[in-house]
Amino acid sequence: MAGKMKFYITTPIYYVNDVASVGHAYTTIAADVIARFHRLLGHDVFYLTGLDENSQKTVQAAKKLGVKDAKKYTDRMAKKWKHVWEVLNISNDGFIRTTEERHRRVVRDFFMKVYRKGDIYKGKYEGLYCEGCEAFVTESDLVDGKCPLHKKTPKKITEENYFFRLSKYQDKLLKHIEKNPDFIQPGVRRNEVVSFVKEGLKDVSISRPIKEWGIPLPIDKKHVIWVWFDALLNYISGAPGYWPADIHLMAKDIIRFHCVIWPCMLMSAGYKLPKSIFAHGFLTINGQKMSKSLGNVIDPLYLAEKFGVDQVRYYLMRGITFGEDGDFSTRDLADRVNNELVANLSNFCYRTLSFINRASEGRIGKAANGEWEKKLSKEIEKKIIDIKRCYMNYNFRDAVKQILEIGDIGNRYFQEKQPWVLIKKDPKSCKGVLAFSANIVKVITILLKPIVPDFAGKIEKQLNTKPLGWKDLSKRLENHRIGKAEIIFRKVDYVGEDPFASMDLRVAKVEKVEDHPEADKLYVLKIDLGTEKRTLVAGLKGHYSKKYIEGKRIVVVSNLKPAKLRGIESQGMLLAAEKGGKVGLLVSDDEPGADVIAEGIEKKPSKLIDIKDFLKLGLEAKNGKVYYKDKVLRTKRKELRVDKKIEGKVS
Ligand code: MSP
Repeated sequence: MAGKMKFYITTPIYYVNDVASVGHAYTTIAADVIARFHRLLGHDVFYLTGLDENSQKTVQAAKKLGVKDAKKYTDRMAKKWKHVWEVLNISNDGFIRTTEERHRRVVRDFFMKVYRKGDIYKGKYEGLYCEGCEAFVTESDLVDGKCPLHKKTPKKITEENYFFRLSKYQDKLLKHIEKNPDFIQPGVRRNEVVSFVKEGLKDVSISRPIKEWGIPLPIDKKHVIWVWFDALLNYISGAPGYWPADIHLMAKDIIRFHCVIWPCMLMSAGYKLPKSIFAHGFLTINGQKMSKSLGNVIDPLYLAEKFGVDQVRYYLMRGITFGEDGDFSTRDLADRVNNELVANLSNFCYRTLSFINRASEGRIGKAANGEWEKKLSKEIEKKIIDIKRCYMNYNFRDAVKQILEIGDIGNRYFQEKQPWVLIKKDPKSCKGVLAFSANIVKVITILLKPIVPDFAGKIEKQLNTKPLGWKDLSKRLENHRIGKAEIIFRKVDYVGEDPFASMDLRVAKVEKVEDHPEADKLYVLKIDLGTEKRTLVAGLKGHYSKKYIEGKRIVVVSNLKPAKLRGIESQGMLLAAEKGGKVGLLVSDDEPGADVIAEGIEKKPSKLIDIKDFLKLGLEAKNGKVYYKDKVLRTKRKELRVDKKIEGKVS
């Protein structure tokens, strides 16, 4: 690839124990768009993504599932992640897993470089550790004593650890940020990092006294290297020959690791720094960050199946301003796909190409070049320059906005020239109009290629061209025979949100059951919801003994408005089927906290719901299973069961 400009882009390596969400897909798709854009410009691109596997969360997750060999578990999960990226048409050139030997070698080598520099020393650490972040946190990071991202109370830890002399690099880092205004983008993140660094950097602990999982410290086998120190090095181990990265892409949650610790590590070991770090915003659902710990994750595979891969990619790049937080909405997705992608762009391509097939035997000649065409060509050229600038600045939203304006130009031109009339009156000038239109189709195709690669590939085929590059924007398609025209995108249906989506049904483990002191038929249950414990009041007395219920995994409507029942507040409601005075408990084999879902319905729990809304759903028990309409209720792993043969309403 001699002579080509190198371009190296990365995404964060995601925690292997997670399930890919639209949030992860957002970063990965954006990085894909950037990578494809640079390939279009003719650059030698390396796009790296991968998985962070050495976290303690990996071992915990494997244990929870009863898998003894955590490596096997990561292999299984890695397959799933790779599958998601294949479905979403991600064109990564490399995939790195931190359990691979090629990575571990780089980590050990890098560690020794820092050690020999005198930047690692042994010390005692006392403080708080958030397992969600896999990082030490300070009181000032917390909100109400909890990590604001993971909503969990961090653990107090006292450990003998190895420390990295981060403080030594404070001034050097500040100077680098000042001298390189594009190092951290966008500006708000740069300011945030600068003020954090100016408050004073403290040395960080980079080891944990753990033996069972992770990369042992080359100088002390009783410790493993802190997972972030290890994970960041994927950017070097995963793309031999490409360092330094042109851009590290991520969301704003992990900028301190990337903008502070990572550059200082590199300075210490004597490596070049990445050229830029770009942090985009969070995808939110009703204003809350989408994340596993909050239980509001949307499955990108579900979206891809329901709306189409290009459609999802298009919406994420068009509907949300890159760099800011944005609320994800399937209604907005459907509206944009229907009004923009289908009604404007795809429609213009199809009407032009199908007309050329019908009226001109698939041939295009010389494009018309009258006053109007000259004016339009100029407008389009100007837009192309602007669109390139937008892509370079990661302003995908405006790039698409201007591509849509080119689509408008094309549609208007076609409409006003009325080739279907012209073909009879003046066939020669009609062919000029068609050739001019076909060239607009070509321009739109090239400009859209990074975002909707499948669509662009199909249009290339219909245009009967080789894969087009940026330089083809200025080449005219003339005296050319096109291929068959076919409709690529059709309108998508947006089915209004299902009322089930707002319910938050979860598995809970019953820890203790007591008699209600004020009521004959009620029990008071203490339950474990995975992330928290709650009290429920339930009318099970006379149907079940206390002993029977204790230890059972039941199903709870966890976002029901709390209600006082004879003086005791019930924080949610357990579910049971009922018929003719008989009661059957809904049970599950899954973990406390597991989401109960109805296949195909995105869960978007409201904060608190009314019992009336729940009852309107009309859940029913049949054949030992529970149904919402015709959908069986289940957790990701298994269907719910009713523990007695009772068929009837569930409440
Ligand atoms: N393993 C670390 C990263 C190590 S990189 C050396 C980690 N993993 S993660 O699985 O939690 O991924 C965090 C990243 O996932 C975010 O920075 C972002 O790129 C992406 N996102 C996950 N959820 C997201 C949203 N809801 N919104 C936007 N981006 C999201 O941190």
